[in-house]
Formats: sequence, C-alpha cells, structure tokens
Amino acid sequence: MRIFWQKTVLFILLFSPFLLLLSDILSGNLIDPIEEITNPTGQWALRFLLLSLLITPLNKILPFSIIKYRRMIGLFSFFYACLHLSIFLIDQQFNVAFIFEDVMKRPYITLGFSAFVLLFLLAITSTDKMVRRLGKRWKKLHKSIYVIAILVIVHFYWQAKSDMDIEPMIYALITLLLLSFRINWKKWLN
Ligand code: HEM
Repeated sequence: MRIFWQKTVLFILLFSPFLLLLSDILSGNLIDPIEEITNPTGQWALRFLLLSLLITPLNKILPFSIIKYRRMIGLFSFFYACLHLSIFLIDQQFNVAFIFEDVMKRPYITLGFSAFVLLFLLAITSTDKMVRRLGKRWKKLHKSIYVIAILVIVHFYWQAKSDMDIEPMIYALITLLLLSFRINWKKWLN
C-alpha cells in the first residue's frame, strides 16, 4: 500500500509540468504558443530521461531500493517527447512531405527523430512481459538510453540560437558523469 501512495505522489510530480503548461495555454498567456510549448516539453523529456538514468547510480548508493520508480520516470520522458513531437507535427500541418524534408535536411531534426524512434522502442519494451520475453537482449536494448541522451543533447545544442547557450553543456556534463559512473561504479564505490 505504501508503494502505491509513493507511486501516486511520483505520478503527480511528473505530471505537474504538463498541468502547468496546460494552464498557461488555457489562460492565453503564451505569446508564441508553438515555441513556448515545444521548448518546455523537449526540456522535460530530457530532464526525465536523465532522472531515469540517475536512478541506477542512486540505487547503488542508497540503503533502500528506488529501482521501482525508474520505469514511470522513463515513460514520462516518452510522454513529454510525444507532446514535443506532436507540436512539431501540428506546426507542419501534418504534411508528410514537409515533415520528411525536415527530417532529411535539417540535422538537428534528424537527431531528434532518431532519438524519438529509440525512445519509442524502449517505451514499448518496458512492460514486465517484454522484459521476460527479451531476457538478456532487454538489458542491451535499454542501454541505448545513453545514446538517446547524447542524440538529444546534440539536437538541443544544434537548435540553440546562440553558441553561448550553456544549457546543453550542463546536460552534457550531467550525462558524462552518469555514463562515467555507470562504467566505473565498482571502482568509485570501493
Ligand atoms: C521527431 C522528433 C523531434 C522533433 C521533430 C523535434 C523538434 C524540435 C524543435 C522544432 C525544437 C525547437 C527549435 C527552435 O526553437 O527553433 C526542438 C527543441 C528541443 N528538443 Fe526536440 N524534437 C524531436 C525530438 C526530441 C526528443 C526525443 C527530445 C528529448 C527527449 C527533444 C528535446 C528537445 C530539447 C531539450 C529542445 C530545446 C528546448 C529549448 O531550447 O529550451 N526533442 N525540438
């Protein structure tokens, strides 16, 4: 029962950026709705992606297990990525030719698209049934989360309007630390 309430609180926390965004949309506060929805949904997708990566090292350090929260955080990253992509599709008026041209010709869209496809694969294989069915291959597949993080950070860096935008660098540094921990955790914790 305690786990149920903990997961409910986590769900509300992860859902709240969406509710805040929805209230901004409904109150007509957005000056440039496309940009003001695209950017935060992309950022929340990336933040929750990195948060899901942080669960594994934290789980090794903490005296209690938090691994049971990882799937929900990862799925919320996918949820925000879906919203992010939907706004792009609306902006392109669902015109398949425009979308295809953008994916092929604008490198930052190519990377975002590749990251989304991989994230989609992780989301559909996140069920208990798929974990059992894929066995060892599941772990291998889900390691691609680090590749997704790198693709998204380059996507973020490339779309930035200024070279002085340090936000992608901060996310890159966090990813590097998480990746180093993942590789060297036995050494680091001894
Ligand atoms: C087909 C997939 C994707 C498309 C078409 C796409 C498209 C875009 C566009 C149009 C922008 C805004 C560019 C601008 O303001 O000029 C953007 C920014 C961004 N996207 Fe994506 N994206 C995709 C996938 C993803 C994914 C999977 C993530 C994260 C998991 C992501 C995270 C971001 C971030 C963090 C930004 C920067 C937001 C900011 O500047 O505050 N994108 N993307």
